[in-house]
Amino acid sequence: MQLEHMRHESLPADITKVLFSEQQIKEAVQRIGSQITRDYSGQKLLLITVLKGAFIFMADLVRAIEGHVEIDFMAVSSYGAEAKSSGIVRIIKDLNTSVEGRHVLIVEDILDSGLTLKYLIKNLKSRGPLSIEVATLLFKEGKQQTNVQCRYIGLTCPDEFVVGYGLDYAEAYRNLPYIGVLAPSACV
Ligand code: XMP
Ligand code: MG
Repeated sequence: MQLEHMRHESLPADITKVLFSEQQIKEAVQRIGSQITRDYSGQKLLLITVLKGAFIFMADLVRAIEGHVEIDFMAVSSYGAEAKSSGIVRIIKDLNTSVEGRHVLIVEDILDSGLTLKYLIKNLKSRGPLSIEVATLLFKEGKQQTNVQCRYIGLTCPDEFVVGYGLDYAEAYRNLPYIGVLAPSACV
């Protein structure tokens, strides 16, 4: 209790509050990991992480999954340095692995408008995977502009700009161990 109190007192100036603590995140990751272990039992799974925001989630998630798991990375850009979606997705880094005939699980940090995922799923489906599902750590409530099926959801979050645990604002705050709300005044 006291430790929690101390943490709040030492929040960076632009973080208005802690939305999800380290412990809450850990529990969500363990829960998703167990579901994935069960659902893909006896099968080989390819996790595709969307850089950069999902890098910490992926690192923890992969250790919460039992069984044969391979990983690869993609980097896309949908926001530039801004805090709202442009709806334009660019592939900055493509996969090294072929997804043809593979069970693919896309690992995302946050599902906001869903435009990024919609584009990614369409793109990866055209490469002939056996199956394709999505695991997202955060799901912004009521923001989806498109009907993206997300099989694994960690935590549901309000419509605020969040940072930490891999998520950034203009490349900063990724190293926060918790997920916090960024002050609107910081989003210039
Ligand atoms: P869309 O709107 O396409 O957005 O679903 C998905 C990508 O946008 C980034 N994003 C955020 N990043 N705090 C962040 O640090 C946020 O609140 C936020 N909302 C969206 C993120 O990279 C995600 O993959
Ligand atoms: Mg980002």
